[in-house]
Amino acid sequence: MRMLCWCAAMLLSGTPAFAADAGHGKDLFTGCVACHTESPDAMGPSLKGVTGRKAGALGDFRYSNAMKRADMVWDDANLRDYLRDPQAKVKGNHMPFSGFTDARDADDVVAYLRTYK
Ligand code: HEC
Repeated sequence: MRMLCWCAAMLLSGTPAFAADAGHGKDLFTGCVACHTESPDAMGPSLKGVTGRKAGALGDFRYSNAMKRADMVWDDANLRDYLRDPQAKVKGNHMPFSGFTDARDADDVVAYLRTYK
């Protein structure tokens, strides 16, 4: 429900800063949950609340050394770069995902991640 309200506010505001489509991002996110779930044997770390979290910060997930050493916070800009080209952003990290070729797709997922808590 909260997200619906947020989307409505986004549509009404109509400013470029809010151009990303979190609803579309949510659809794309179905491709991430193959690996990113809350389950302890998931292939990837939980992404709940990832926006604003330090990279490689979850104690119960075995990150690559590359991710542990990345030393950055997942703000919108870092997430966008990572989702466009994971290996360029965090060289040597272990995420088996090649990145979105369409930059708007990355923006939409970043917008969705902000609401994913
Ligand atoms: C095939 C499995 C797989 C898919 C699909 C996948 N990921 Fe990942 N992801 C991983 C793994 C494994 C890591 C940990 C990488 C490391 O430690 O080097 C990771 C790490 C991450 C991180 C860093 C998290 C942290 O705690 O620092 C983010 C953000 C992320 N993925 C987002 C996404 C998003 C968004 C998608 C969908 C567009 C996605 N991933 C798709 C496996 C996957």
